[in-house]
Amino acid sequence: MLGRLFRRKSFPLARCLRWELSDELLRWSRDDAWTLRDAVEGTLILGATGSGKTSGSGATIARSYLAAGFGGLVLTAKSDERALWEGYCRETNRSGDLVIVGADTAMRFNFLDHELNRTGSGAGLTENIVTLFSNVMEIRERNAASGGGREDGTFWKQGALKCMRNAVDLVSLATGKVSVPDLVRVVLSAPLSPAQIRDKDWQQGSFCFHCLKEADKRDKSPRQQHDFGVVADYYLLEWVNLAERTRSVIQATFMGWADLLVRGLLRELFCTDTTITPEDVERGRIILVDLPVKEFGEVGQFAQVLWKYAFQRSIERRNVAASSRPVFLWADEAQQFVTSYDHSFQTTCRAARVATVLLSQNYSNFIAALGGNEKARAETDSLLANLNTKILHANGDAVTNEWASRLIGRSRQFLASGNNSYDAEDQWTASLGLDWLGHGGSTTAGFSETFEFEVQPREFTRLRTGGPPQWMVDGIVFQNGRMFEASGRTWLETSFRQRP
Ligand SMILES: Nc1ncnc2c1ncn2[C@@H]1O[C@H](COP(=O)(O)OP(=O)(O)OP(=O)(O)O)[C@@H](O)[C@H]1O
Ligand SMILES: [Mg+2]
Repeated sequence: MLGRLFRRKSFPLARCLRWELSDELLRWSRDDAWTLRDAVEGTLILGATGSGKTSGSGATIARSYLAAGFGGLVLTAKSDERALWEGYCRETNRSGDLVIVGADTAMRFNFLDHELNRTGSGAGLTENIVTLFSNVMEIRERNAASGGGREDGTFWKQGALKCMRNAVDLVSLATGKVSVPDLVRVVLSAPLSPAQIRDKDWQQGSFCFHCLKEADKRDKSPRQQHDFGVVADYYLLEWVNLAERTRSVIQATFMGWADLLVRGLLRELFCTDTTITPEDVERGRIILVDLPVKEFGEVGQFAQVLWKYAFQRSIERRNVAASSRPVFLWADEAQQFVTSYDHSFQTTCRAARVATVLLSQNYSNFIAALGGNEKARAETDSLLANLNTKILHANGDAVTNEWASRLIGRSRQFLASGNNSYDAEDQWTASLGLDWLGHGGSTTAGFSETFEFEVQPREFTRLRTGGPPQWMVDGIVFQNGRMFEASGRTWLETSFRQRP
């Protein structure tokens, strides 16, 4: 079942003006091409630590995307990923398209401004901003929950999202723009009691009151007039009448989210000016967020998930007829970046021409990252089912290996069986190695038909993992609905040559 070695060929499509779904990106075997159509159906690469995911199949696919002129977003977990991609871009003549977003570069993305300018102050703005926050904050909540087993925060989260929704509306109605520091000022200066609303000193010092006054004065469309009524009711009736503890927990939850963005690196990267936007990938830019989680911890994770979500939303809105360049979303150590939005995004990738590539050690990583419960399992199954090409490298994880065997499926197999029986005398001759003397025992042989795994779980433990002297990485490629020419099966064992 060993796949033949062959020279993989990448096709230099970088200068093409049009991309066809039938364009070939690489070959798994001499007769099995992998096309753009396959790529935009998503790819999952699983294998144990050191099994050759990054340097084997990952490197092969990355080079093929770059050579074909894809734009893309690269999320990073490890510190060496920037150098790795700089190398890939050099080899494929794409260095000019690589944009590094990081602590030592000047690339900035003001996500709120971007959202505001994109849609004007029209419908959807507030909800987009609130959803963006809520998605990114999922990471924080998850980290907090795994660190300390917090109580279920759904109620407070809903309260904080409502608080944010009203703050976004109020600030945009009053000032025509939205910034995180202004949202924070509104929330911190909202009235605490009906009496306070009438207090002149409070009125003078409260940014919230100032915004209410400004928004009231401004010319408003009928919809804005309606929104203003809702916002005014929230601050002047609802907020002041909340129980003290409820209000302070909602405020603390909101501040927990916003605080990260009003100081330090995240403020600089996301709340100042804009020099790069997610739409730039459609023009062939390769945006690498060089804030590896291993080095920058939660700040790095937060920044990358924010970029990922902004990218997903922007690319989903693209008009493929006018802008057909394929783009990729690359996440090595993908469990660091998955959120519950991903499985729904993945269903739209084909239409939006997004080639997602997720690399991780095992199946359970995704479930753990998404919360570890039944919902997480359902989201994981949906996400992985929508990554149509699966490349499985060496793995010692029984859960993953069994999952992979089940995925590939069972087939009818014929097992040969044989049996010899001896009587007591014959055992004596046999023990002397004198079988040829003959014996009076009986021999039975036959074939039995069983329904067995096509690839047994143990097969995944014996794949090569690269390194000297051969520098070869083995992997089993599975594509739902495909029959590989080289194997005549739905799966193919193939090999990748590392470039040490
Ligand atoms: N440039 C290199 N020089 C020497 N050995 C290498 C090189 N690149 C990779 N290897 C070896 O090849 C094997 C596969 O490495 P690789 O980094 O691709 O694994 P991986 O599956 O991505 O692991 P991880 O889950 O830790 O990211 C490892 O044993 C590694 O030590
Ligand atoms: Mg790796």
